Amino acid sequence: MEIQQVGVVGLGAMGSGIVNVVSKAGIRVVAVKATGGDTGKAKKEFEAGLDKEVGRGKLAVYKANAAKAGVTWATSLDQLKDCDLIIESIVEELDKKNDLFGKLDKIVKPSGILATNTSTIGIDNMAKATKRADKFAGLHFFNPAPVMGLVEVISGPKTAKETADSLVSFCKNVNKTPVPLPSAPGFIVNRLLVPYLVDSIRLYEQGVSNPADIDAAMKLGCNHPMGPFELSDYIGLDIVKHMADILYSEMKEDRLKSPPSLVKLVAKGDLGRKTGKGYYDYSDGQKPNPDAKA
Ligand code: 3HC
Repeated sequence: MEIQQVGVVGLGAMGSGIVNVVSKAGIRVVAVKATGGDTGKAKKEFEAGLDKEVGRGKLAVYKANAAKAGVTWATSLDQLKDCDLIIESIVEELDKKNDLFGKLDKIVKPSGILATNTSTIGIDNMAKATKRADKFAGLHFFNPAPVMGLVEVISGPKTAKETADSLVSFCKNVNKTPVPLPSAPGFIVNRLLVPYLVDSIRLYEQGVSNPADIDAAMKLGCNHPMGPFELSDYIGLDIVKHMADILYSEMKEDRLKSPPSLVKLVAKGDLGRKTGKGYYDYSDGQKPNPDAKA
């Protein structure tokens, strides 16, 4: 099935990035907050993002205008009924996701595919909330979605081959590289990335080095665009901790346990860039946060 209209539910950083990616590819989008609330702020940020790309000479004005015109900012899930694909991008709480998918299953036309942008939750846990497990899959974008080239296309045990094939074609149509795989803890990227991030934190806690030097080492020694502390702060420490906790609960490997400084910072509400403080303090550029160590 060719995907011609996409619903995006949840308009945080990931959902908004996905609206950007899909609309720029000339595919119609219905964007809605999970709560059905006002989308004014998301719309403003989406338009400002496109204008910035135009300003940097990366996007033609007519394409930005077409992308803007192609998005319907909806206030009710009912407006998703005719979409060929829905991409859920709400908080990583299974109960909330299942509640949403139960509703979407009743609203969206029977041929519509339901996809989750979950970073770590197993696909079958959510497919069960619907009567269309054959049309249910994971579509895992990376942050920032407009820039990152990868989408993991994750099949649960009951996902039909046609569903996965449609999603692979869709990713190519929105100029991303799909990597299909079966559902497994952390999929590919987070299964490898999360142990690396928490190992880096442990290296710091053990006094071997500090965030700035570890970041410099990984950027200059491995050509990573960000070091592990910059990346953790960028992703959000609450999200890093949540991913580690889910992986630990599924795999029971001590290495995956959230390190004490991560637990401490999350409890304090120092979640990284989005709150202005994490392993770094962003109040005046990017300086080490001396309170970060457990
Ligand atoms: N929207 C659109 N474009 C953006 C953007 C955004 N949000 N953020 C950056 N860009 C563009 C800029 O316009 C710029 O384009 P140009 O070079 O053509 O002018 C380009 O990206 C580079 O941006 P900047 O010069 O502002 O900044 P940097 O060069 O420092 O790059 C970065 C920023 C792209 C974020 C880079 O540091 C990077 O790739 N970091 C690693 C990100 C990463 O690993 N993400 C994966 C996280 S894990 C994940 O998402 C999984 C989830 O489940 C948690």
